[in-house]
Amino acid sequence: MTTALITGSTAGIGAAFARRLAAQGHNLVLVARDTKRLAEQATELHDRHGIEAEVLAADLSTDEGIAAVEARLGDRTHPVDLLVNNAGFGNKGRYLEVSLADELAMLKVHIEAVLRLTSAATESMRSRGRGGVVNVASVAAFVPRGTYGASKAWVVQFTQGAARDLAGSGVRMMALCPGFVRTEFHQRAGMGTDNIPGWLWLDADKLVAAALADLARGKTVSIPDPRYKALMGVVKLTPRGLLGGVSSRTGRKYGPQ
Ligand SMILES: NC(=O)c1ccc[n+]([C@@H]2O[C@H](COP(=O)([O-])OP(=O)(O)OC[C@H]3O[C@@H](n4cnc5c(N)ncnc54)[C@H](OP(=O)(O)O)[C@@H]3O)[C@@H](O)[C@H]2O)c1
Repeated sequence: MTTALITGSTAGIGAAFARRLAAQGHNLVLVARDTKRLAEQATELHDRHGIEAEVLAADLSTDEGIAAVEARLGDRTHPVDLLVNNAGFGNKGRYLEVSLADELAMLKVHIEAVLRLTSAATESMRSRGRGGVVNVASVAAFVPRGTYGASKAWVVQFTQGAARDLAGSGVRMMALCPGFVRTEFHQRAGMGTDNIPGWLWLDADKLVAAALADLARGKTVSIPDPRYKALMGVVKLTPRGLLGGVSSRTGRKYGPQ
């Protein structure tokens, strides 16, 4: 039996990863801040699927939180076979409307935690000759869009580069780039979603099923939906200046995804 560690497991995309991996028979290490919610999730997944679900309460915007998860990933007596770096959040507002403290907290969770946890996991995976890492980025990585988009662009570039460096080691790495997904994300950030057309919304369970299929195929970047694949094709052909204008005008009251 293999073990998967999921950060931000208690809601949205992370919870969908937890449900799917548990249904496939993987043991889980569930990471988030809310201990009550973690305990309830672990009990439910254990009862429904008969898997072992360990909980690890950690705030990934702090050094202590990141270190606790690093230590679990480095425990070679209970190895982790799949790491899903999913925890993340949005800050409402454009550049200079968001406090520097909130911007830095985002960089800590989206970048420093992802770097440190990926490194702790892949060191041990490489020595065993197998393992996988999914880093949840966003299609916002492909457009100029404040700190959120920049942090997700880092996730994509980092993952692609590390995947290349680890080629042949048995360790797979993939950046997952969703569009808008119905989760707690926008509500938590206080962002309205009324102006986002219905056809742009993705279902978290379908997204995760497609993402895991892409990981099994060996993809290093996954945009697992035909609508967003087509949109990102258009984005690639659009001049950066024009993209920046459109992206900036749409503001961040409603985005970013
Ligand atoms: N929803 C979208 O439209 C969308 C689109 C593209 C990409 N994404 C990305 O997908 C990922 C998951 O987002 P989601 O939409 O599923 O969000 P969500 O429903 O708000 O869930 C966020 C999860 O992360 C945990 N979390 C938040 N801050 C944390 C911290 N400091 N330390 C540890 N855990 C933390 C939360 O639990 P606690 O509060 O208990 O810690 C929760 O389990 C994020 O990286 C996001 O950027 C989302």
